[in-house]
Amino acid sequence: MKKKVIAYGRVREKAQEKLRKAYDLQYFSGEEDLADETFKQALREAEGIIGLGIQVDETFLNHAPHLKVISNVSVGYDNLNLDEMTKRGIAGTNTPGVLNDTTADAIFGLLLATARRIPELDRYVKQGDWTAGLPESKFGYDVHHRKLGIIGMGRIGEAIAKRGHFGFDMEILYHNRSRKPELEAEYAAEYRELNDLLEESDFVCLMTPLTPETRRLMGHEQFARMKKSAIFINGSRGDTVDETALVEALQNGEIRSAGLDVFQEEPVSSNHPLLNMNQVVTLPHIGSATGATEDEMSLLAAENLDAVLSDKRPPNLLNEKVMS
Ligand code: GLV
Ligand code: GLV
Repeated sequence: MKKKVIAYGRVREKAQEKLRKAYDLQYFSGEEDLADETFKQALREAEGIIGLGIQVDETFLNHAPHLKVISNVSVGYDNLNLDEMTKRGIAGTNTPGVLNDTTADAIFGLLLATARRIPELDRYVKQGDWTAGLPESKFGYDVHHRKLGIIGMGRIGEAIAKRGHFGFDMEILYHNRSRKPELEAEYAAEYRELNDLLEESDFVCLMTPLTPETRRLMGHEQFARMKKSAIFINGSRGDTVDETALVEALQNGEIRSAGLDVFQEEPVSSNHPLLNMNQVVTLPHIGSATGATEDEMSLLAAENLDAVLSDKRPPNLLNEKVMS
């Protein structure tokens, strides 16, 4: 009998097709939770889950007694309680690497769109109001030759630094848990303590994973340290930011504007104050969402899942102890 596997949310058809050859795959759209009887029944029998954004805590795991692997179709894995999974012998995996350039393109696009007010101006043109975008108050803010401060210099942070340095002649500052001498050499990047980075940067780009240390990393004090002319970009997770503090910083002119791919609550509610500000540019958490990259992520996630269920070491194991 084929082992039962759940595909949850953004799992591309190519990867599902591949898995169906070896597994009994049941697909869920990604909106289901433990209140859904069909989903709960599937969980009772599943040995593997592949998907995006499934929230895994103790209660969830109690409903999944046969589970051996949760394979995230994402690089971030703040949705997984890895300690609890390790205790129960469940492997966790993610999909690093394959999304770096695609995500960096999206985050840089957001940075450009915010600085040059592209969505707002686009709206005026389409409304037939050509002149609304012409007064000086609607002029953009230069990106080239400015200081780009990157918080969280992982592989995506590095791809952003590369674009800033080589494409836009920007000065690169970064803050990270560890220094990265090779990046300092390659992109003339300079390490800064967090407060110094906030005070010096024209663009603050937040790219850290969400961990207990980075939760609400950006609050009142941090926004107040930024230049009034500076732009804040969030490409990490919504919970790295105190959104109330961000709203106030924007309303009080403590910072110029913000570009956001992520929110504390996703989907963000349509009456959220951030959505009523011209100086905020938003995306629906789609940093990696091109067809080619979503395919690669799903296929890598399928490979991770298949490895665990075949008693092999998966390429991207997050909790080493589970295999030792
Ligand atoms: C997207 O946010 C990811 O973690 O891949
Ligand atoms: C992780 O931080 C990554 O950027 O891949």
